[in-house]
Amino acid sequence: MRSIKNPFVYGDTVSGEAFWDRENETKELLGDIRSRQHVILLSRRRFGKTSLVWKVLEEASKEGFIPVYVDLYPISTVADFIEAYARAIAGALSKYEKAVKLMRGLFSRLYLSMGIDQVGNPQWNVGFDKNMEVESFDEVVSSLDSYLQKKKKYGVVVFDEFQQIVEIDGEKMERRMRSAIQTHRRITYFFVGSKRHLMNDLFTDPNRPFYRSGKTFPLGKIASHDLKETIKKRFHEAKVDIDRQALEKIAEVTEGHPYYAQYLCHILYNMIEKSRIMAEDVPQALDLLLRRESTAYMNTWDLLTQRQRQALIILSETAPDENPYRTEMLRRFNISQPAVVIRALKSLINKNLIDREDGRYEITDLFFKRWIRTYITQSRPIGP
Ligand SMILES: Nc1ncnc2c1ncn2[C@@H]1O[C@H](COP(=O)(O)OP(=O)(O)OP(=O)(O)O)[C@@H](O)[C@H]1O
Ligand SMILES: [Mg+2]
Repeated sequence: MRSIKNPFVYGDTVSGEAFWDRENETKELLGDIRSRQHVILLSRRRFGKTSLVWKVLEEASKEGFIPVYVDLYPISTVADFIEAYARAIAGALSKYEKAVKLMRGLFSRLYLSMGIDQVGNPQWNVGFDKNMEVESFDEVVSSLDSYLQKKKKYGVVVFDEFQQIVEIDGEKMERRMRSAIQTHRRITYFFVGSKRHLMNDLFTDPNRPFYRSGKTFPLGKIASHDLKETIKKRFHEAKVDIDRQALEKIAEVTEGHPYYAQYLCHILYNMIEKSRIMAEDVPQALDLLLRRESTAYMNTWDLLTQRQRQALIILSETAPDENPYRTEMLRRFNISQPAVVIRALKSLINKNLIDREDGRYEITDLFFKRWIRTYITQSRPIGP
């Protein structure tokens, strides 16, 4: 067992030392805040959107912007939204104002009180008249801009998992929110989301209220060079040497995906007891990672139809420049025509298992694709 704490973390939002690179992205997004350019930040799951916006908010607050972060993931009703947004605004402003003043002055319809959350930390409670839901919604959406005008300050609001807005009340709230936001002069909005097709529906359909209401910012991979340098540095700090070829291998299999790079390196660090990690250690760690993820992947697999599974197998064996409906594939699964595959691919997009970018389909989870190739196509037994 190694004595130094594992420097690689995966899962939750990362900050400080655990946050790598993304310097250009941070700079660009800060520039957008300064020029009040709203942003639609998109990427696949676990590419680091939340970590990046936290970093950007931290930097923006050093420049005097008031940062508000709202996670819409757990929100399913208008009431949830009002409460979450009001709580986030009150929380952000409590760094600048006394609690009593906020309770009295921030809202007129909604009321704020101080309470304690489940783990004993202080938390804002929000109340409002349930018969006045629409008015309360309007109030919370406008409150921050009014406050900023009075104080002659500027702010930035991040709606994380913004696609969730669709779930709360169809287009009615979307429309009300959009028309309020349009009048705001002191807030830059970031709309963050990972479900590309839903985000596209929201922002690129001319019939939707949020049509083209910001600049699209697709968050990409971490460049291979930066990824390797950071990983090497992190290993060194933990007194472990890593071979150049091992670094190459890690960059190759994780394809610049920060979550998988952290995950794989975490396993490598724990699994390899030597003080130097070599290229041949990487496949071992990779294997362990896939086995750990197997239960989750099998659960997903079990819930799919036969056609959907076949479409996934086809995609897992299709190179970027190849056609997924090629005859050899159709023949292999006795599929009479491409339309059958297209239908399955569409249903997989709705399940967020695949993405369509520039006319090409891709399995969103890089390691799910690897798992399919290893355990399904090559039928390697899934043992302990
Ligand atoms: N810049 C980064 N540096 C290092 N690790 C990162 C970075 N960005 C993401 N990660 C890794 O990815 C994981 C997920 O990051 P984060 O939650 O920010 O991504 P996300 O895109 O918001 O994910 P989700 O789609 O699940 O909301 C982190 O726990 C970390 O392991
Ligand atoms: Mg996130």
